[in-house]
Amino acid sequence: MSDAHHEHDSIIRTPKQLIVAVAGFFLVIVIGIILLVVFATSDRLTGAGTKSQEAEAVAERIQPLAEQGFTLVDANAPKVLQAGNAVYAAVCAACHDTGAAGAPKTGDTGAWSARLGQGYDTLYKHAVEGIRAMPAKGGNPDLDDLEVARAVVFMTNKSGASFKEPAAPAPAAAPAASTADTATPAAPVPAIAAPAQPAPAAAPAVSQASGQNVYNAACVACHGAGVAGAPKLGDKAAWTPRIAQGNAILYEHAIKGFQGKAGVMPPKGGASVPDADVKAAVDFMVAAAK
Ligand code: HEC
Ligand code: HEC
Repeated sequence: MSDAHHEHDSIIRTPKQLIVAVAGFFLVIVIGIILLVVFATSDRLTGAGTKSQEAEAVAERIQPLAEQGFTLVDANAPKVLQAGNAVYAAVCAACHDTGAAGAPKTGDTGAWSARLGQGYDTLYKHAVEGIRAMPAKGGNPDLDDLEVARAVVFMTNKSGASFKEPAAPAPAAAPAASTADTATPAAPVPAIAAPAQPAPAAAPAVSQASGQNVYNAACVACHGAGVAGAPKLGDKAAWTPRIAQGNAILYEHAIKGFQGKAGVMPPKGGASVPDADVKAAVDFMVAAAK
């Protein structure tokens, strides 16, 4: 016995040492398992899974949208208008940094060159009113038009443009670069202060459309892939607690917009469609989750 110990030059020479060694070995394994479980539950279950995990993980990921986008603006919206880079970081970066939902990435001059060709006024109008998967004001109706304008200038100038930032918020002063600020000739201007009532301007004729058609036109950008915390179409786990709120709440959240723990649901998904169409789309999404 002692020969064997010497042969292998073991550091375990007494039963006590053996017990300590074995206990230590198990401790390491147990800690390893705990870490694995924590890792698996916190990182793998985003978008679905348990509510608490999802809310935490998702809230962390979309923090700029959920936290600063609203609280920051609420705190100082009436008087102090934010600079372009601040608005961008708080609201626009969520999509335009990553390219989420097909957003052109800031700094990607290739993706922007054709858009820049439309001219500043059109870009500004699209940012305020929304276009396709780009929600009106990036989904934050509390933003002042001028803040959106500054953010547009900030992001486009990083992407190959050289627009001039619109002038300071002197009332009735016409910003040099932004004629679309208060009035756009010919083009219908939606009531910017009332995001729940966008003019049905360039909206495709979908008033008779089925819920699925509305969904495909206005909701799939986020709800198809679960972008920005949107509950995925057909994801029962994500939808069941929402459905439990009842249709009235779901309709209201979809039509008027809704800031939840997971993210920002823009009014009507940023589209200009009748309320009835949004309800039909909600019905379609609810049915898909059953
Ligand atoms: C929820 C994601 C999202 C957020 C948040 C967002 N955008 Fe966008 N944005 C998009 C997408 C998607 C497009 C591309 C739309 C298309 O052309 O189909 C886009 C396009 C644009 C365009 C180009 C429009 C055009 O005519 O080509 C501008 C300008 C723009 N966004 C500005 C902003 C500004 C300013 C903010 C912040 C106030 C913002 N966006 C926040 C998704 C987003
Ligand atoms: C720009 C992304 C985006 C678009 C486009 C969008 N949604 Fe959402 N939607 C969200 C996000 C994010 C949430 C989750 C908000 C939360 O719970 O934090 C959500 C949640 C919802 C909910 C659940 C509300 C609740 O109370 O739980 C409904 C219903 C809904 N959306 C309907 C729609 C419909 C209908 C459309 C199309 C007309 C649409 N959405 C388009 C992002 C989007």
